[in-house]
Amino acid sequence: MFVSEKAPAKINLTLDALFKRPDGYHELEMVMTTVDLFDRIDLYETEKAITLESSSGLVPQDERNLAYRAAALLKEKTGCKKGVHIYIDKRIPVAAGLAGGSSDAAATLRGCNRLWKLGLCDAELAAIGAEIGSDVPFCVYSHTALAQGRGEILTALPAPPSCWVVLAKPSHGVSTADVFGKLRVDAIEEHPETRSMIEAVKQQDYEGIIRYLGNVLEPVTMDMHEDVRKLKQKMLQFGADGVLMSGSGPTVFALVKQESRATRLVNSLRGFCQQVFAVRMLGVRRESVLDEIRTK
Ligand code: C5P
Repeated sequence: MFVSEKAPAKINLTLDALFKRPDGYHELEMVMTTVDLFDRIDLYETEKAITLESSSGLVPQDERNLAYRAAALLKEKTGCKKGVHIYIDKRIPVAAGLAGGSSDAAATLRGCNRLWKLGLCDAELAAIGAEIGSDVPFCVYSHTALAQGRGEILTALPAPPSCWVVLAKPSHGVSTADVFGKLRVDAIEEHPETRSMIEAVKQQDYEGIIRYLGNVLEPVTMDMHEDVRKLKQKMLQFGADGVLMSGSGPTVFALVKQESRATRLVNSLRGFCQQVFAVRMLGVRRESVLDEIRTK
């Protein structure tokens, strides 16, 4: 038996931190969506072992990989005796703020659920995913949502209006734990207007989405890596409608309406940044997801 799953990249339209919790995590509010940039996860049934291989040398090829941990945890939770060989065709930049590793883990949960005929629903897979990482539940649904709590409490939102997303990833990665470690919630100068962003998404108001883009981790990462600040300035200067760092970074994304402007922006950025992609906004995996996650 063999199944294949697409694992899309996520971007944050907003990321707000409300307070630091006693468990060390931050209480967050994030409007998250997906873009048309995927890893492909191929899953081959084996007798009982879990093995993993990736097209990229930048990710661990053993039990440290989140996709491996997802398969192992699913086996443990369900008592399934079967095994899997996981092949990750990596397209999403690594340690980039695009939830590539979380999306691979989520796709592995969805795929192994099919491969091993476990019959779990997405909500059950998301609950298991929350034990692997805060972004994994969102990635199980891969549907535009408001994420609260640690990131695991999801409220479905409509997909944003169609537009182009230009992603630019500086050559270095960033550790999410390092960035959150440097965040001082009481010193945050500007919190994003999360409710206004939700309304803009619901109203399919492109200008509103541009206006309310905001991420409290952006100044933290920019203070650690000046090139991220410069990249954002360049993207605005080269004609992006709106620009924001995604997650803990360092990837910066720009929104534009027309494909021609996206192409121009990519060409203008070539000298400044090695990894630049123009992709479509996605925001939806499949419609039935809307029935499964709470809707406001
Ligand atoms: O949950 P995950 O392992 O992806 O989180 C990585 C790190 O990011 C955590 O160890 C923590 O330092 C930080 N984090 C946080 N608050 C969150 C999510 C992540 O402080 N809500």
